[in-house]
Amino acid sequence: MTNADLEKLVDTSDEWIVSRTGIKQRHIAEDSMSNADMAAEAAKGAMESAGVSHEEIDLVISATVTPDYRLPSNACVLQEMLGFPNAVAFDVVAACTGFINGLTIADSFIRTGRARKAVIVGSEKLSAITDWSDRNTCVLFADGAGAVVVEACDTGSGVLSTFLRSDGKMRPLLWTKVGGTRYPYTDDYPFDKSDKIRMNGADLFKVAVKEMANAARQVIEDANLTPDDVTLFVPHQANIRIIEGVAKRLKIDRDRVFVNIEEYGNTSAASVPIALHEASQQGLLKPGDNVVMVAFGGGLIWGAAAVKW
Ligand code: ACO
Repeated sequence: MTNADLEKLVDTSDEWIVSRTGIKQRHIAEDSMSNADMAAEAAKGAMESAGVSHEEIDLVISATVTPDYRLPSNACVLQEMLGFPNAVAFDVVAACTGFINGLTIADSFIRTGRARKAVIVGSEKLSAITDWSDRNTCVLFADGAGAVVVEACDTGSGVLSTFLRSDGKMRPLLWTKVGGTRYPYTDDYPFDKSDKIRMNGADLFKVAVKEMANAARQVIEDANLTPDDVTLFVPHQANIRIIEGVAKRLKIDRDRVFVNIEEYGNTSAASVPIALHEASQQGLLKPGDNVVMVAFGGGLIWGAAAVKW
């Protein structure tokens, strides 16, 4: 879906969207394609690329706020679709930070011997909870999925450090109010009008730049690195101005910052693994590289991870 397509839905313009967000187009899944359908494609690709079989996987983590069902988890749907006979599968609900949470949990499971090989998938069908009449939000969000496989190894590569933090007081800056058990659908809160993302973009913007920079700084320090040692910085793709603001605070030059927001928009939990995949496809990730990922999202919740590729 291009910005020109959005001009037909709401009072906006390609010039406004590109200059305020950096987004030129985004991918919207067909009605027949579910979140788990996208997640399964991504997980299959990650396992193929890692050369790992379904039987070997013992941990499946799905990061999403738009699962196929309220019950069971998207991870269990994925387990049924792909058949992981020896795994435990569960979801992480941490909005745009979900992939970093998933990676942190998988790292902890592997370090403590509870798992050996994990699949972490970030996938979202945000188009299903976007208000297509609200120009403040509909120009930003999109659908997609990305996945990684992580496993125990003794080669010196892997997760160097992680950081997670949240602040529930700022919940109303980005949320869907209706559709849970506190505000179930009623005549006052009808399904078709209420169950959509609401956002205070300006306030989110400020917190995002500050806390993403703090989180990234923390994992760089905890990994005994400096910003100069970071080979590739892979931030959550929410807004090009947020990405540039964070990189500037960290003093990481633009050529070490991975950006693909112009093509995908904000895919929430899918954004970092999609970016990692594309960076890898483009030959930007080599063994021994120091990669720092950082994300921020509704909760509010934010986090970062430093890994040696
Ligand atoms: N087209 C045209 N005008 C618009 C649009 C649009 N799509 N959306 C909002 N506007 C208008 C507003 O109505 C407002 O008009 P007003 O001043 O008459 O009331 C005006 O533009 C606001 O303009 P700015 O203040 O310049 O907008 P800003 O620079 O804050 O950019 C944006 C808005 C893009 C939403 C920005 O605040 C943002 O990206 N915030 C972070 C949001 C985000 O990323 N959320 C995702 C989750 S959190 C995360 O992932 C980091």
